[in-house]
Amino acid sequence: MKTILHVSCSPRGQDAESYRLSQKIIGHLQRQEPATIVVDRVIGDGRLPSVDSDYALSQGSAADVSDRGSMILSEQLVGEVESADVIVISTPMHNYTVPATLKTWIDHVARARRTFDVGAAGKVGLLRDRQVFIAIAAAGRFSGERARQPDFLTPYLQAILNMIGLHDLTFFSVQGTGSSPDNVARARTRTDEILEDYFDVSIPGA
Ligand SMILES: Cc1cc2nc3c(=O)[nH]c(=O)nc-3n(C[C@H](O)[C@H](O)[C@H](O)COP(=O)(O)O)c2cc1C
Repeated sequence: MKTILHVSCSPRGQDAESYRLSQKIIGHLQRQEPATIVVDRVIGDGRLPSVDSDYALSQGSAADVSDRGSMILSEQLVGEVESADVIVISTPMHNYTVPATLKTWIDHVARARRTFDVGAAGKVGLLRDRQVFIAIAAAGRFSGERARQPDFLTPYLQAILNMIGLHDLTFFSVQGTGSSPDNVARARTRTDEILEDYFDVSIPGA
């Protein structure tokens, strides 16, 4: 049985555009592999606490504070990543990048001597690679010829997930959600078609 970890980052919860997109992705994955369970890690409600002083100490030195403060929550979040066969992250773009709550989740999960090591050549990821799907929603456009804003979200997630060993990343997005209802409907349809194409060719033997 496969496990999908779904990390949902929008303050709009299940009404979110990024959540809608992630459900489509999860639906395709479940069609490929019906015996799949989904573990939902909801962080968009803003209740994920920032890392604390014990955690900061552990990142700046080899001090063993593993049983203290937010090290315990960090271990739980890393465990969820390790147990997942596939990870789906649904996120809005906030101020050209990831929402603060997703940055907080990353602070917990990207941990020195646990999910990455530092050597002479730089940082080396310690997690086993696995598929990661990222479902992004943005009011404006951030890619393609009609982009009117910078994108610090995609390259940032790429760099940080690579750093902990996750390289098999696939990004999908619904862009232009701040537009008219007709345009939003068109953007959704376009993204749904891209998803269908992607998963059709990705089904082994299809
Ligand atoms: C704090 C905040 C910052 C935002 N910054 C951007 C931005 O930089 N670029 C953009 O296109 N949309 C921005 N938006 C709009 C959201 O990305 C957009 O409404 C998106 O569809 C929300 O997705 P969701 O429904 O999954 O939360 C911002 C929204 C909020 C609340």
